[in-house]
Amino acid sequence: MSNLISAETKDSNFRRIRRCKKGKTPEQTVYESMALHGKNRYLFGYSIQQNMPSIWVLDHLLSSYRPTLIVELGTGMGTLCTYFSVYGMFSNFDVEVISLDLIKPVLHEEICNINDNKTHILDWDIYEQDTIDYLTKKINEAERPFLLSDGKDPKSDEVNVYSKNLKSGVPIFAHDAILDGKPKFGWGYTEDKIDWNYVKRYEPYYSWSIEGDTRMMCMITE
Ligand SMILES: C[S@@+](CC[C@H](N)C(=O)[O-])C[C@H]1O[C@@H](n2cnc3c(N)ncnc32)[C@H](O)[C@@H]1O
Repeated sequence: MSNLISAETKDSNFRRIRRCKKGKTPEQTVYESMALHGKNRYLFGYSIQQNMPSIWVLDHLLSSYRPTLIVELGTGMGTLCTYFSVYGMFSNFDVEVISLDLIKPVLHEEICNINDNKTHILDWDIYEQDTIDYLTKKINEAERPFLLSDGKDPKSDEVNVYSKNLKSGVPIFAHDAILDGKPKFGWGYTEDKIDWNYVKRYEPYYSWSIEGDTRMMCMITE
């Protein structure tokens, strides 16, 4: 253990805990700091492009909604897809997971094996018409589909492309929304970028801080 957590990391974590930001709990201070600095973001030992609050939020949402199909736009390194697959494996009903990216993550076979062959990682372009048609059909046929939009920035574009063809009542969680003010890192989107003809707000509308200043914006198709 002592090899894994250096004294320096421990010290800096203690400093973060002791010097809480104004109005923030120690936990918020530590996790926001981790998110901002991109440190210590691991799940199952693998680097993840989310922070821990995002996993808590997703776990809460999935447990309440009990999806039968999870579609993830943007697999990245595949660690969130691993989490979804573990969720599917432990669930007492069938959960199909479909995750897409331009290239498959290194561990794609291992990830797909977790969920009894019900996880599919595809190297398809989110914006190709064939992909849109395939996913639209899958989502519209599923009993309780759940769409996580985390592909190309700004994610509002994906929401707008996919939401207009989906049946009513599909929850969409779109990453990297900015609650107010200018995008701090330049890759967020604001509410006015969403085409509100096809979705409405879904409460809780914003999740707690996901990465830095960005939130998961929660919508549901009209
Ligand atoms: C933020 S990462 C996804 C992180 C992942 N969801 C997670 O939480 O671990 C965004 C991914 O979207 C992918 N992407 C960007 N444009 C895409 C496109 N047109 N089609 C498919 N994937 C795309 C990128 O290659 C990148 O890996």
